[in-house]
Amino acid sequence: MKHSFIPLAKPEFSNIEKKLVNDCLNTGWISSIGKYVQEFADNLAQFSNVKYVLPVSNGTAALHLALIALDIGPGDEVIVPALTFVASANTVTYVGAKPVFVDIEPDTFNLDLTKLESVITKKTKAIIPIYLNGRICNMKKIMDIAQKHNLIVIEDSAQALGAEFKGKKAGSIGLTGCFSFYPAKILGCFGDGGAITTNNLEIAEKVRLLRDHGQKTKTEIVCYGWNSRLDNFQAAVLNIRLKYLSKWIKRRREIAEIYNKGLSDIKEIILPLVPDSDKKHFDVYQNYVLRAEKRDKLFNFLKEKGIEALIKDPIPNHWHKGLNLYHFKLPLTEQMAKEVISLPMYPELTDDQIEYIISCITGFYKN
Ligand SMILES: Cc1ncc(COP(=O)(O)O)c(C=O)c1O
Repeated sequence: MKHSFIPLAKPEFSNIEKKLVNDCLNTGWISSIGKYVQEFADNLAQFSNVKYVLPVSNGTAALHLALIALDIGPGDEVIVPALTFVASANTVTYVGAKPVFVDIEPDTFNLDLTKLESVITKKTKAIIPIYLNGRICNMKKIMDIAQKHNLIVIEDSAQALGAEFKGKKAGSIGLTGCFSFYPAKILGCFGDGGAITTNNLEIAEKVRLLRDHGQKTKTEIVCYGWNSRLDNFQAAVLNIRLKYLSKWIKRRREIAEIYNKGLSDIKEIILPLVPDSDKKHFDVYQNYVLRAEKRDKLFNFLKEKGIEALIKDPIPNHWHKGLNLYHFKLPLTEQMAKEVISLPMYPELTDDQIEYIISCITGFYKN
């Protein structure tokens, strides 16, 4: 039986969000001075268990402003992984610092912590662990290494809102956390949005100025800054959607479990870790990513069956010639880039659709 098209991700917006947007239009509160920006910041701070949340225009701006606020600049090196969206490495170069790539673990695609110390030099200033696909790294180990070498930790939590490590939420462990609210993210808005989290008042105050042209008040400018504000419009949408987040995460974890059970007998694929693989992690499955033999053929086969899969990073960051970072040798990153494929993952995905996807993948490897 053929199903109707199953997309990879599906941002759903209800009448409540639409009503709120109308409210912004009717009151004229569209820009960042509207009340929803602070309301959302307060609610997100409570959800993430941090003191300060500074909403900004997108996840890239969050990383950029965090780097500036932490005085990272020319001459500094910042450690990042290379099998991810290029935004993280990009922002390191915005401030004149150098991205230094470390290889990844094959089971989570996160930084390989056994290799982390080997790339630390006198110039290393910070580590940006990326919580890929909604799983936090082993932050105990990262924080220990950071403390030993006096390094700053900026959590790239763009894919991990609501994820936990040892009961601590993403964005509450390092000096700052950076989030993206791009529509396909776990919490998405109508366009672009982002936020910085921190428990440090000084950093919060710096970011508050940096995101709005250094303006302390409308008539007092205290430093150079950027236009990286979040609109009231987007904040209204995010604020209401935040209420459903825990329910959505629960469903994402259920979907991951159904996929894992249904696909476990196929020897040609390696599945992501199950939701309760250990007591330390609470994964939120921003993406459901597996490693597959004949990956490209599987991708095309699923497309024929009306299933939208994604090969997100077929080329790791350091292999993009235009970035001039070709000198890094990252064997596992390079291998994973050839094997990974994302399956549809969003709360509205029905059990019936998941079973169909499982049956198609099973059929592909049987023939
Ligand atoms: C790990 C990671 N970091 C940073 C970003 C950048 O976020 P944005 O697209 O909101 O600028 C993304 C977005 O896809 C991401 O996945």
